[in-house]
Amino acid sequence: MNLTLILETQRLRIRPFQEGDSEPFATYRSDPLVAQYQSWETPYTLKQATHFIESLQNSAPGTPGEWYQLAIEVKKDNIMIGDCAFCILAEDPRQAEIGFTLARSYQGLGYGTEAVGRLLQYLYEELDLHRVRANCDIDNIASVKLLERVGMRQEGCFVESSWFKGRWSSEYWYGLLQREWMQTHTPLPSKTPPTKKVGASANTPTFSNPVNPV
Ligand SMILES: CC(C)(COP(=O)(O)OP(=O)(O)OC[C@H]1O[C@@H](n2cnc3c(N)ncnc32)[C@H](O)[C@@H]1OP(=O)(O)O)[C@@H](O)C(=O)NCCC(=O)NCCS
Repeated sequence: MNLTLILETQRLRIRPFQEGDSEPFATYRSDPLVAQYQSWETPYTLKQATHFIESLQNSAPGTPGEWYQLAIEVKKDNIMIGDCAFCILAEDPRQAEIGFTLARSYQGLGYGTEAVGRLLQYLYEELDLHRVRANCDIDNIASVKLLERVGMRQEGCFVESSWFKGRWSSEYWYGLLQREWMQTHTPLPSKTPPTKKVGASANTPTFSNPVNPV
């Protein structure tokens, strides 16, 4: 493990994956309801989880065109409950896309909103991105609600735009600009050490301070 990007909220620690995450990761990815609108098939084996986590060891946050995946852990008992990810767009390193997943038993508690809010704060305030986008299946109501709770704007609907798990799926696309985020959020008090601007050379780890929940 050569990366130490850690984001904190009141209840959560968002951190790089560790070896011990394989089991919870395989378990929630094997849940058909969790996987329903996601790219993987169930069951998702322990071997697949281990391989996936190993493949993350050489990834670096802020590398354009590459998804960077972080585990979400509840601080009070160090239980890994899900993950979130971002990808700096290859075509424009001032923009990113995000994704997120929670184990079913940790849904309905506000953890997803808390984690995604913190991720957005990192992207806008520490990586200084101009715009973040996300998409979800129009039937994925929990995801729609989460994206709207964190303040993202629904900007479009692509009707039956992808053949997904045996059916034509329609997608909502969401976006939010940095200046819109800053209008409704208090900026982080400090950034230590200084964060590199995202770009071709921004493949070194970025550290951030724990903050209050967003
Ligand atoms: C998308 C996903 C992360 C949303 O999870 P979620 O639990 O609904 O979202 P949150 O963790 O933010 O929890 C919000 C819910 O907890 C409730 N809640 C309970 N305690 C809360 C608290 N202390 N703070 C905030 N909300 C709280 C909220 O009222 C809300 O419930 P509601 O949606 O019935 O109104 C989850 O459904 C998931 O992992 N799905 C499978 C993977 C997936 O599809 N990912 C998205 C791909 S685009």
